[in-house]
Amino acid sequence: MKLSIDSANLDEIRKAAAWGVLRGVTTNPTLIGREETGFLPLVKEICSIVDGDVSIETSSDDTDLLVRQGHEIAQIADNAVVKIAMSPGGLGACRILSDEGIKVNVTLAFTASQAILAAEAGAYIVSPFLGRLDDISTDGLRVLSDICEIYSVQGYETQVLSASLRHPVHVVESARMGADIATMPFKVFEALVRHPLTDAGFERFTDDWEAAKPHLGELPPSMQEA
Ligand code: E4P
Repeated sequence: MKLSIDSANLDEIRKAAAWGVLRGVTTNPTLIGREETGFLPLVKEICSIVDGDVSIETSSDDTDLLVRQGHEIAQIADNAVVKIAMSPGGLGACRILSDEGIKVNVTLAFTASQAILAAEAGAYIVSPFLGRLDDISTDGLRVLSDICEIYSVQGYETQVLSASLRHPVHVVESARMGADIATMPFKVFEALVRHPLTDAGFERFTDDWEAAKPHLGELPPSMQEA
């Protein structure tokens, strides 16, 4: 499962990229609106940081306008993916753009039936939103599981991107269920790496190394520094 960051913040994206595990970025109008950099310089910079898909969202439910927006977004960079909200007009635009070879991420998917529509419209990615389903007492992971099962049975090539993730369990269960991509805020990325036993173990080994160093004879210079 590819790990993607759900952010338009350049510091967060650079930090996650430095870990060597970042395979993509998802943005949306809310995330873009929080940043001070103008839209085009911001999304161009994001595309240059990441070696992977960067989803950039359109803003309309009108097929013709979405197709025009899709053409312009696709020009921004080779790794730009056109993000289109689920709607009848959005599906029409997805079909037209996909037939032209432009990659489309159909977003705001909340049901398996919407995911079937996205695949049939030729989407490159479909994004079910788990956390927002959980927020209204619906089991987001159950919906993801249904989508992954249906896509496997039907042989759909559309990638399932597990979105709106709130915590590490969402990430782990998305991997178990067979999601192709998981996108998460930076704070969830950080939560994936941390464990109190890891931190305590590292502190203990560091102290023990410091105490042992005087008795260990010659050390490689970089080990001496530690
Ligand atoms: C995905 O592409 C969306 O931008 C995102 O995951 C939405 O998450 P939220 O429900 O935390 O806003």
